[in-house]
Amino acid sequence: MSVHKELKRITTNTIQEMKQKGEKIAMLTSYDYSMATIVDEGGVDVILVGDSASNVMAGHETTLPITLDQMIYHAQSVVRAAKRALVVVDLPFGSYQGNSKEALNSAIRIMKESGAHAVKLEGGLEIRESVERIITAGIPVMGHLGLTPQSIYKFGTYTVRAKEQAEAEKLKDDIKVLQEAGCFSVVLEKIPALLAKEVTDSVKIPTIGIGAGPYCDGQVLVINDMIGLTKGFKPRFLRQYLNLFDQINGAVKTYVSDVKAGDFPNSKEQY
Ligand code: KIV
Repeated sequence: MSVHKELKRITTNTIQEMKQKGEKIAMLTSYDYSMATIVDEGGVDVILVGDSASNVMAGHETTLPITLDQMIYHAQSVVRAAKRALVVVDLPFGSYQGNSKEALNSAIRIMKESGAHAVKLEGGLEIRESVERIITAGIPVMGHLGLTPQSIYKFGTYTVRAKEQAEAEKLKDDIKVLQEAGCFSVVLEKIPALLAKEVTDSVKIPTIGIGAGPYCDGQVLVINDMIGLTKGFKPRFLRQYLNLFDQINGAVKTYVSDVKAGDFPNSKEQY
């Protein structure tokens, strides 16, 4: 019997029970089969197929250009790899803001064509109707508040959100709206730690923070940042566990010099 058959799949219920038990939730992004296999075997609870793929996979400056078809391609690869983790997929910019029917159609495409377990949408009150319609169709929804990168041209900067009272009050209202609409969890991105604590304590659904301090029910990082693949990106909230850019770069340089010197392949590396 395969080892994987013994693994119990994490569900949206598991995630909610973890909050009740005070057990922290570990989430990381992945965009392809190889990385998702490593991340899943590493024991994360949730794999997010983030639209950050637009930045780290495709090299765009923002998350706006990635398409629904491209998100589905990434999600298919991750779903094939994930044996234990819950797989959540971002609805990309332009695939849900129009109206709730469009949002539902986009969510259905992701679920049907990738086999993922849930979708994530950015926004609060503005997207309530879409969230409700998607959940009514049986699709679990994760919310995303605070710094919502699909609105970067409205914000104008990637700095910390909700430092001002009015924005903090809207965020406190928005998380209640998302909870009432049926979201199973909400990402809080780049907001003050004490606001994240207040918001986390005010709802039954788990919050997952990125740059939102230690009081959230879980944490998420972009895998490429966390393992040091993204050169020069080092915001304060990021803990970089490896420096893979330099390690891979060193390996490539050694390979190039081995090939140039005629040292590769050697007598054992041929048929
Ligand atoms: O797209 C993404 O990677 C995200 C995380 C930063 C939460 O939304």
